[in-house]
Amino acid sequence: MAVDRYAVFGHPISHSKSPLIHALFAKQTGQKIAYTAQDVPPGCLEVAVRVFHAGGGRGLNLTLPLKELGYQLVQELTPRAQLAGSVNTIFWQDETLCGDNTDGVGLIRDLTANLGLTLTGKRILILGAGGAARGIVGPLLEQKPAFLVIANRTLARAQELGERFAVLGKISVTSFADLAGKHFDLILNATSASLHGELPPLPEGLIAKGGCCYDLMYADRPTAFVRWGLEHGAIISADGLGMLVEQAAEAFYIWRGVRPETAPVIWQLRADADKKTV
Ligand code: ATR
Repeated sequence: MAVDRYAVFGHPISHSKSPLIHALFAKQTGQKIAYTAQDVPPGCLEVAVRVFHAGGGRGLNLTLPLKELGYQLVQELTPRAQLAGSVNTIFWQDETLCGDNTDGVGLIRDLTANLGLTLTGKRILILGAGGAARGIVGPLLEQKPAFLVIANRTLARAQELGERFAVLGKISVTSFADLAGKHFDLILNATSASLHGELPPLPEGLIAKGGCCYDLMYADRPTAFVRWGLEHGAIISADGLGMLVEQAAEAFYIWRGVRPETAPVIWQLRADADKKTV
């Protein structure tokens, strides 16, 4: 029997964990699928999507830097992809190219189901105002926090985001310098700074008593932001591995109609990473 084909497109893509995650989901649920990673430069996305589908491909994930282009490319968007302004999951309905975004739901599931956090009524800070931040503002506001603040190096980008999402809840923007004296129950790092081992300049006392930190980035070793959280009193300081697995599980569900268990997959990836770093 032929297996159904799926893939993740990105540029670069060699370090993607998605093929392993989907192989583990397929094994666990008994689904017969093949999932590969393909390097697709932005200028080649449209042709690569067409060729993949013509060859029998059933669904795609898009990762950096293709998510915004995916948003432009698809014929139909789910409401959450529309809200995020980016697409990380593609499927075909009849012959219509459809785009969804599972990043937001992936983050919320990791925060609430896996880490046991409550977001309602909490003071939440997002660091960064790029594509990663835009994808999570809507889903976070849906959880009804007390308020949401976006801090960014370039204030104009934060202002743009703030205006875009103002209808959904209590949102304000600030520079890093103006964070002094403020306290938050949850601080999320959506800057790309930690990819380079850097941190935005953060004042002392930013984490409220009992507060938590979460880095949307993930690496085999704790990121600079995860370490900062632990060193500054966060009771939980987590990286984005759980979100990565949760967004993949939601994509798997969209394609296959079956929801895989995520906990064993998160454990396995964490154990693999620990083996690499000892
Ligand atoms: P992504 O799609 O991954 O969010 P992006 O759109 O390039 O990527 O956005 C990167 C984010 O990280 C931005 O908020 C950027 O701040 P600016 O808007 O001021 O450029 C932020 N960023 C990157 N490096 C940073 C650093 N060293 N310190 C603080 N913020 C940084």
